[in-house]
Amino acid sequence: MADYILTPWEVSGEVDYDQIIKEFGIEPIDDKLLSYLKEFTNEIHPFLTRKIFFAHRDLNWILDEYQKGNPFYLYTGRGPSGNVHLGHVMPWIFTKWLQDKFNVELWFQLTDDEKFLFNQSLSMEDAYKYSYDNALDIIALGFDPKKTFIFSDIDLAGTLYRNALKIAKKITFSTIKATFGLNNSANIGQIFYTSIQTVPAIIKSIIEGKNVPCIIPHAVDQDPHFRLSRDVLPKLGYYKPASIQCIFLPSLQQGGKMSASVEHTAIFTKDTPDIVKKKVNNAFTGGQASAKIQRELGGNPSICSVYKYHFMLFTLDDDEIKKIQSRCKGGDLLCGECKNNLTQKINKFLTKHQEKREKAKDVIDDYLLKEKINLRSLVNEKNKKFV
Ligand code: TRP
Repeated sequence: MADYILTPWEVSGEVDYDQIIKEFGIEPIDDKLLSYLKEFTNEIHPFLTRKIFFAHRDLNWILDEYQKGNPFYLYTGRGPSGNVHLGHVMPWIFTKWLQDKFNVELWFQLTDDEKFLFNQSLSMEDAYKYSYDNALDIIALGFDPKKTFIFSDIDLAGTLYRNALKIAKKITFSTIKATFGLNNSANIGQIFYTSIQTVPAIIKSIIEGKNVPCIIPHAVDQDPHFRLSRDVLPKLGYYKPASIQCIFLPSLQQGGKMSASVEHTAIFTKDTPDIVKKKVNNAFTGGQASAKIQRELGGNPSICSVYKYHFMLFTLDDDEIKKIQSRCKGGDLLCGECKNNLTQKINKFLTKHQEKREKAKDVIDDYLLKEKINLRSLVNEKNKKFV
């Protein structure tokens, strides 16, 4: 039995990604595919060589079509249930790389509806507020304002609903139960929700009135949604969406992923340098019981969360990461120095990010999509109720 849980609503334990590849039926990204990709991008992002983006569906087809002059667009999303942490930012950095390399549009869905439905203690007002707050983090990463469309599901409800209906009509309750493990005690919004998450995979086809290929960069837990999209959309005359999928940034503590619900295991984009320092200093490492023993026996990077942060985000230079690994194993690099090094890198990134996040407030309207007719705009100023 697996000792982890991986569903779109819950991820815990040590995920066995090889097993997931088999269970989900996704394809590993092999060297042949990487060299095909490189024909277009000229270089390969370290997230790919390091197998952080490790699996895909139909990436070959996306590249074939691109080569034939039929370019794709990118679609990704975020469930705005709280503040953004580094685990969220990682796939977005990669999505930006894809946008830069292929010069294509990105459609970014903020699923405030989903988070309201699935999170018992989250109000709709708060989920909606987080959409706007989290959009600042997305914009701060530097997506092209002319080619990037960010939207809250609540704001784009009309368009989403019209198209979700057609999708929902093709999905049975028993499929939803089997795909997501939802049971009879699930609320009925949860049962319907996946049809809303499918719409952005055809949004460009709807706009252009012809099929446009779509690729979705996402963390592997979202695959069940898009497996369903791939079943249903051809029945409605659309292409199946392709995907490129990543693993999770681990928790700073032992085991599991970085999780917003366990504050000290995650580094948030709003954290101050002092907080970051404290969290990294308290992190779970592969170090020995004392400095003396560590000098003799060396540390164990393969279980170390500090090492994983270097490897997955902050030390992307291959020579540098090899050096960290060999110095650690050889007992030359102790945890204090390694943690300091990581803290400095994180704080350098966050200081800049926080500046750009502030500036994003001035340009947020260049990115956000809304529908024109909106009852909220008719509510008088005194009645601040959420309509
Ligand atoms: N359901 C995702 C979450 O909870 C949000 C999301 C919507 C998403 N559309 C997506 C994520 C497309 C990745 C790709 O975080």
